[in-house]
Amino acid sequence: MNGGEIEVRPIANALGAEIHGIDLSKELDDATFTAVRQALHDHLVIFFRDQTITPDQHLAFGRRFGEVETHAYAKGLASHPEILPVIKEAEDRAANFGGIWHSDVAFHETPPMGQILYALDVPEAGGDTIFVNMYRAYEALSDTMKGLLSGMKAVHTGQRSYGASNSQVTLRQEKFSKSMDVKVKEDAEEEMVHPIVRTHPATGRKSLYISAISIQRFDGMTKEESRPLLRFLKEHARRPEFTCQFRWKRHSIAFWDNRCTQHYALNDYHGHRREMHRVTIAGERPF
Ligand code: SIN
Repeated sequence: MNGGEIEVRPIANALGAEIHGIDLSKELDDATFTAVRQALHDHLVIFFRDQTITPDQHLAFGRRFGEVETHAYAKGLASHPEILPVIKEAEDRAANFGGIWHSDVAFHETPPMGQILYALDVPEAGGDTIFVNMYRAYEALSDTMKGLLSGMKAVHTGQRSYGASNSQVTLRQEKFSKSMDVKVKEDAEEEMVHPIVRTHPATGRKSLYISAISIQRFDGMTKEESRPLLRFLKEHARRPEFTCQFRWKRHSIAFWDNRCTQHYALNDYHGHRREMHRVTIAGERPF
């Protein structure tokens, strides 16, 4: 059982903190759990080093924060279907899973609350993950822009990631590692409308809810009408000063709050293997 005080060390000004003084193979007592959850709310993405955990312990940690869910389009481990292996082999060349700015599964009615990603095999250099603070992205907008966006909604689909009608997607899927089983499905094409500015249910803070890969247009507007403002918001939401970059080592863990961040997995390590295990914690409908 973990019982001591955790140490929280920010890694950047915008977001991200390493948590020390904790062993995630052991159960968290209530005080430690509360401290970790507070660190997640304060820093949006938290990192742990040198953790040796089994799939069951990985799931148990996730379940402290909510219900865990299986991925709708990519197959989990045979022994633990709720754990998604995220793999790129040394001989794989093109797409890596998550190698584009996104907030996970924003085209679902209830996108995940968060993800816990555990590194099993990482390249010596490269394969970092970049995170962006979407509260900061919202707060940096002018009051006039905030006023314009309040009440606006966006239409999301999973077409670019998992849509069956998009031949480019099919090609892209084929380029994912054969070690991953990623499916192309028709239901990924369905449209889902979410607010552009969402309120975090725990912190009450407002953030910009842009997932660059899934957002299609503003609700009630055409793609052409939406394009200029969407382009501005996508670019604004990845300004370097809103980001942090995590350098993985074997047995590191990243736990991000998917409701107020986006992330991007760098694909700069061809010729090297990278294997992660991901546990997804269910979320609520954005409001
Ligand atoms: C993901 O988008 O979940 C993958 C992130 C990563 O592999 O760094």
